[in-house]
Formats: sequence, structure tokens, C-alpha cells
Amino acid sequence: MANLSQLLCFIFVAFALLHVSSANEANVGIYQIKKGNFYVNLTNWGARITSIVLPDKQGNLGDIVLGYDTLDEYKTDTSYFGAIVGRVANRIKGAQFTLNDTTYNLVANDGKNTLHGGQKGFSDVVWQVKKHSPASHCPYVRFHYQSADGEQGFPGKVIVSVNYMITVENQLSVTMKAKALNKATPVNLAQHTYWNLGGHNSGDILSETLQIFASQYTPVDSELIPTGEIAPVKGTPYDFGEPQTVGSRIDQLPNGYDINYVVDAEGGPRTMKKAAILSDSKSGRVMELRTSAPGLQLYTADKLKDIKGKNGAVYKPHAGLCLETQGFPDSLHHPDFPSQIITPKKTYKHFILYTFKTTKPSTN
Ligand SMILES: *[C@@H]1O[C@H](CO)[C@@H](O)[C@H](O)[C@H]1NC(C)=O
Ligand SMILES: *[C@@H]1O[C@H](CO)[C@@H](O)[C@H](O)[C@H]1NC(C)=O
Repeated sequence: MANLSQLLCFIFVAFALLHVSSANEANVGIYQIKKGNFYVNLTNWGARITSIVLPDKQGNLGDIVLGYDTLDEYKTDTSYFGAIVGRVANRIKGAQFTLNDTTYNLVANDGKNTLHGGQKGFSDVVWQVKKHSPASHCPYVRFHYQSADGEQGFPGKVIVSVNYMITVENQLSVTMKAKALNKATPVNLAQHTYWNLGGHNSGDILSETLQIFASQYTPVDSELIPTGEIAPVKGTPYDFGEPQTVGSRIDQLPNGYDINYVVDAEGGPRTMKKAAILSDSKSGRVMELRTSAPGLQLYTADKLKDIKGKNGAVYKPHAGLCLETQGFPDSLHHPDFPSQIITPKKTYKHFILYTFKTTKPSTN
């Protein structure tokens, strides 16, 4: 599927993780990348996606991600709209872990557990805008952040970067990298956009169709911490192996979907894998998701409660859904899960490719 134009863009992403200047809240802004009728707005507050705009099958432009009208609202957001979450995405049981005989105490912000990096994770800090090339052949914006030794309790200094790039019209690539500067540390980054292909203000996503390329998942306890089991999805409401509407079996789950899938690895664990396809017949929009990550968290946004969003929209449960590619939750306590520990010798890399299509209206 790669053509020359895409390849040139991908070669361009081969950047180094170098010096990061500190940035402060006064530098927070909106950065747009655009190609044809497709554009993505981003902010360096949490390296977040604030809008993704593309046509529906009638040619009408629509914004398909949940978010706010103003940057100030992102600063008080507790739903992680559009954000890069880390240093460790998802939950860490008991807000602590042991690495090489040292126990690290983290900030608990989800009951007794740590969620998405703690009280002030990577989603709630100012990232440096390293490069912004809004309308080049490969429009991109690159954010960097340096996380201090001990930040939210995690060991060692880490430099992280996220590069958002439009490779061809209707395709967004996300490249995340992290480098430990002085100590071994866990790193697990995720992109936390809430999607609604019908438009961010079009109501719920229950009638959208989802396919997930995963035959296994990691069951969780009542605090959403994995039990350690890796179980088949077959015969459970988690099975999206064949395309199903999101709402087809959601009533069988008291709190909707908030679960990690083990993405089927056709070509080995580090290659780009097809993870999911989401489609909406009303708008005709389709999104294909590929990733290098081993896991995919499906979250159907059951916790959204009358959030005031963009353009007067009010987001209720199921107003959007998240497809967060990442490592498995609580891997620090499950040696059988793929490790999230990086050392100064090994750079963390995580790729995502979102490809959008629009089915043409039938002509009669
Ligand atoms: C995206 O950003 C551009 C440039 O800052 C702005 O003009 C436009 O209104 C933004 N679009 C949305 C949907 O927020
Ligand atoms: C643990 O300590 C040993 C011995 O000092 C070292 O070789 C190893 O790299 C350390 N592991 C991590 C993950 O830091």
C-alpha cells in the first residue's frame, strides 16, 4: 500500500531525540497540518489532537474527534481528549512497582491505582514545538517533552517525542519515541483520541461498525486491573473478529467496553499490524488503524457525563470511542506480558497509521 510519496514522508520521520527546551503555558497554541480537504489541528498541551476534519460521502466536512473550543478547557480536562498519555498509559496496580530491587511509589489518581501516568502525566504538560511544517509535501508537527527524574514517582529522566504527519491525503501517521537518559524506566505511550466518524456532535457511536484484529484479550478485575490471564475473545461480547456494531452486545457489560486486546501479530511483534477498522454507514466514513504496539484498548466512553464540548456539543456516555494502541495494562506486575522497561541503550518506538476512506454515495 505504500507509494513513493508515502515512503518519502516516512524517511523524513527518521529523526533523532536530542535536546529539549523547556516550554511554559504561555507557549500553548494550535498547530494545523493540512493536505487537500483533510486537516488535523493539534496543541502542544499534552501533544493533543484537537480536530480531525474530512468530508463525508456527500462531501460535507466534519470534525470526527471529541474536544473543546478553547485551549483553557484542555488544561482542566479530565477525559484525556486527544492526548498522548504517559509516562505509562493505562493502570498500574497499587500505584507502585519494583525494578531491580528498588520500589517506586507513584501518584495514585484512580482509586489506589495509577492511571495514564498519574495526576499530571504527559497529557497535562506543555510540550515543546520542535518543528511545524504546515503545508509541505509531508505536513507535520513534532512535539518534544523532557520528563524529570522522579516525575509522578517514575525513575530517571526521559525525552519523549511525538511526530504527527499527513503522509497522503486522508492518512495520519503518528510516531512516538522515548529515550531514557540515565536510568531504566517503564514507558508506555498511547494516543487517547475519542472518535465519532459521524462527527463529534452526531450523538453516540453505538451504531458504528467495528472490527478488531485480535483473537485474545486480557480480562480484568473490578478495578480494571488485568488478572494476568490471556483469554480468547470467542464466545464473549469482546469478540469483534467479524465486523459488529459497537452497541450489539454492550448491554451485556455493566460499564461498557474498557478492555485491552492482544493484537494478532501476523508479521512478528514489531511490524505494523492491522489493529481495527471502524466505519459509519450514515456518513460513509471509514477508519483503518494500524500499529506496531502489542495491545489495543477499546474504551466506549461510558464515563463521559454531560461534558461541554466543541460548538455547543454536550458529550454523554458513548459520544465517542477510544482505540488506544499501547502495551498491556499493568505490565509492570505481569512478567508474562511484553516488557515496558527501557534502558538508556534502547529507544522506545511506537507507530500508528490512521487511514480514512469515504464511501461514495450511490448514484441513481
Ligand atoms: C483548526 O485550526 C485553524 C488554524 O488555527 C483554525 O482556523 C480552525 O478553526 C481550526 N479548526 C477547528 C475545527 O478547530
Ligand atoms: C539491573 O541491574 C543489573 C546489574 O546492575 C543491570 O545489569 C541491569 O541492566 C539492570 N536492569 C535494569 C532493567 O535496569
